[in-house]
Amino acid sequence: MEYRIREHPILGEIEETKKVRFTYDGKTMEGREGEPVAMALKAAGVQIHRYTRKKHEPRGIFCAIGRCTDCVMVVDGVPNVRTCVTPLKEGMRVETQYGISARPPEKEGK
Ligand code: FES
Repeated sequence: MEYRIREHPILGEIEETKKVRFTYDGKTMEGREGEPVAMALKAAGVQIHRYTRKKHEPRGIFCAIGRCTDCVMVVDGVPNVRTCVTPLKEGMRVETQYGISARPPEKEGK
């Protein structure tokens, strides 16, 4: 199931753009070219974009206007990318961010 708005009471009918492929944590996904990365993920049912540095709590879209940083992810190897205001492009590599990296923290005792 795709969670995507097709018609809006104020904006009217939403024009569909070209489909593009990208990866999310290694999985190939499809989105619409130029839509925010966060919206492509939301349409696919992805809610968690990052885990906080100290308490490892999940975060996702909050403000959706590029102000809060809750949606930051590692995009094409670059951390702290605000996915709610970053246009989706063909072949993007999007990864969950753990603190400041794309790697989950090591478990204690290992
Ligand atoms: S959701 Fe707030 S900056 Fe993206």
